[in-house]
Amino acid sequence: MENTDVHRKCTILQSEALQEYILETSAYPREHEQLKEIREVTIQKYGFRSTMLVPADEGQFLSMLLKIINPKKTLELGVFTGYSLLATALALPDDGKITAIDTDREAYETGLPLIRKAGVEHKINFINSNATSVLDEMLTKGGGEHGMELFDFAFVDADKPNYIHYHERLMKLVKIGGVIAYDNTLWHGSVAVDEEEAPEIFRDGRRAIMDLNTYLASDLRIEMSQISIGDGITLCRRIR
Ligand SMILES: C[S@@+](CC[C@H](N)C(=O)[O-])C[C@H]1O[C@@H](n2cnc3c(N)ncnc32)[C@H](O)[C@@H]1O
Repeated sequence: MENTDVHRKCTILQSEALQEYILETSAYPREHEQLKEIREVTIQKYGFRSTMLVPADEGQFLSMLLKIINPKKTLELGVFTGYSLLATALALPDDGKITAIDTDREAYETGLPLIRKAGVEHKINFINSNATSVLDEMLTKGGGEHGMELFDFAFVDADKPNYIHYHERLMKLVKIGGVIAYDNTLWHGSVAVDEEEAPEIFRDGRRAIMDLNTYLASDLRIEMSQISIGDGITLCRRIR
């Protein structure tokens, strides 16, 4: 299999031909030049791990969603080489700001020259740290109810076992009416099969994602919608 082919297979759609059709017909022809370049350098440097990037059609969805919401202040947990970060930065207004958190500075710096080339680095504040520590610091340093300007939008694409913990913090850091998007909420389709049928590499993530999906469905502080694009993305709108 060619390296680029793994991206065509990175979808929960059961028909690879359909995913191929979506990518070739609408996603790749409209993909920003530097997004293509980030994907290419990530494939070259990281091989199979490059499938951690959101696929092009999901990037396009994220961009459209952001342009509809028109947020000024956003958060991203899990940056890697910056595909979803660049898609976000390109969609935000010129005075929009993204706080982007990842433990892996090297991966961020792999995509940074392309973010610069796209002319949107000024919108990004990258924090090289563990997401939980940064969120906790925001909460103790005056976040939430204590005066800090809350986020309009958050994209969560970091370590799956912590998603529920992130959710509780984000419910204080994202404003009422704001949106939180959780990526990979269908976890390669493994959420819909018995544990023993799920490939072993997906099992830990599967349990964490299933717990999250149940948790979100019963959380009356949000409205939610499960979107079947990419590896599944759940949109939550904070209502209280
Ligand atoms: C799936 S990748 C992010 C991909 C990126 N959102 C994109 O689509 O271009 C997940 C990233 O989460 C980061 N990560 C994992 N655990 C983390 C943690 N506890 N705090 C911050 N970042 C973390 C990893 O270093 C990795 O770069």
